[in-house]
Amino acid sequence: MKFEIKTERLLIRTLELTDVSDFLLYRSNPEIVKYQGFDVMSQNEAEHFIKTNRNKEFAKPGEWKQFAIENIELAKLIGDCDIKFNLEDIRIAQIGMTISHLYQKNAFAKEALIGILYYLFDVMGIHRVEEIVDARNTASINLLKSVGFRQEAYFIENIFFKGEWGSEYQFAMLNREWQAIKSLIQKN
Ligand SMILES: CC(C)(COP(=O)(O)OP(=O)(O)OC[C@H]1O[C@@H](n2cnc3c(N)ncnc32)[C@H](O)[C@@H]1OP(=O)(O)O)[C@@H](O)C(=O)NCCC(=O)NCCS
Repeated sequence: MKFEIKTERLLIRTLELTDVSDFLLYRSNPEIVKYQGFDVMSQNEAEHFIKTNRNKEFAKPGEWKQFAIENIELAKLIGDCDIKFNLEDIRIAQIGMTISHLYQKNAFAKEALIGILYYLFDVMGIHRVEEIVDARNTASINLLKSVGFRQEAYFIENIFFKGEWGSEYQFAMLNREWQAIKSLIQKN
């Protein structure tokens, strides 16, 4: 199944080897990976990641797949997002998002997230979307709140992460909640 989403300013599409320099630019920035489950990447690691990711099937239960977020006007990669469908029930998906430090705070993440929610809920008809975030990740928490995600859980020191115990919030949105709010959500 091909996954491609076009919004006003963005194209969410397959991550290609031609994206590697733009990808590496932010994936090698310690600030960008601070609250993520991976570390900074080298050129070789970035190339390997893109090649491996490209061969992954979309919507394979239990497997994360990464997608490029391209700015249409610049014809350039400005970030990426990932989606994983639950191993036991593919009507539940988990998502993650990164926008390069060069392009943050321009409502690109919000626009991409709205596009992804449209696709998952209205095109694929799934039931529930979840995201788990580091409790210190204010940008990500505000992004989720800005599109109407509900905070469901606060896990206290539930993960040993980058040398210390970390706490996380779980956010979620149901299809019926999306249907009730989607016309009210502004991209900018
Ligand atoms: C989280 C992230 C994707 C947000 O990207 P972005 O394009 O800058 O976000 P947007 O401009 O679309 O902003 C979305 C909302 O979050 C808020 N926000 C964004 N960055 C913020 C920050 N640093 N501090 C506080 N709020 C912030 C915005 O004000 C906006 O809310 P509003 O619509 O109510 O005003 C980006 O900061 C990032 O890539 N961080 C590093 C990677 C990461 O930790 N990802 C999450 C783990 S999966």
